[in-house]
Amino acid sequence: MNQLLRPLTRADATAAATLHAMCFPDPWSVTSFEAAIEDAAVRARGFRQGGQLVALAMTKEVAGEADLLTVATDPARRRHGFAAQLVSALIVELEGAGITRMTLEVAEDNGAARQLYARFGFTEDGRRPRYYAAGRDVPVDAVLMSRHLGV
Ligand SMILES: CC(C)(COP(=O)(O)OP(=O)(O)OC[C@H]1O[C@@H](n2cnc3c(N)ncnc32)[C@H](O)[C@@H]1OP(=O)(O)O)[C@@H](O)C(=O)NCCC(=O)NCCS
Repeated sequence: MNQLLRPLTRADATAAATLHAMCFPDPWSVTSFEAAIEDAAVRARGFRQGGQLVALAMTKEVAGEADLLTVATDPARRRHGFAAQLVSALIVELEGAGITRMTLEVAEDNGAARQLYARFGFTEDGRRPRYYAAGRDVPVDAVLMSRHLGV
């Protein structure tokens, strides 16, 4: 694993919540990050630059599959490959752990994230109509996506 790309620990929960608040209208709290980071089924990875947490990604394993819980990059550090490196590292880890499928959901109007997921081979499985309402005048669909992991 890259020296700057490493597991998040409970001590990172405040920085993670601060980063999340820069990226989402309905961010996770410090308490939510603490709980997730300490969940044995969760892989929480962060990217640091200059001692600052600039990107994070988290998956949760259930019944041999992994759900991408969240991925976020500091708005000032985007398009430098941080999210791609985190997702790539998580896929390698999950494959090594024998996980065979990865799922996620993304807002229909989130073009950046949808491009990122398409680049990693995720394809659409279905939709949850009008699922995302926070920060929007009109709710938008959640697009459910997945990809096979391993050979
Ligand atoms: C989506 C997000 C995590 C991408 O983070 P990032 O570190 O900027 O992404 P990367 O630099 O690793 O980009 C990897 C690829 O994703 C795609 N991508 C990323 N941002 C994009 C954008 N604004 N427009 C189009 N494609 C984009 C591109 O294919 C990109 O590869 P390229 O730069 O070689 O073209 C970031 O925009 C973000 O934090 N958004 C707010 C939170 C969010 O929506 N998270 C996803 C929730 S489902």
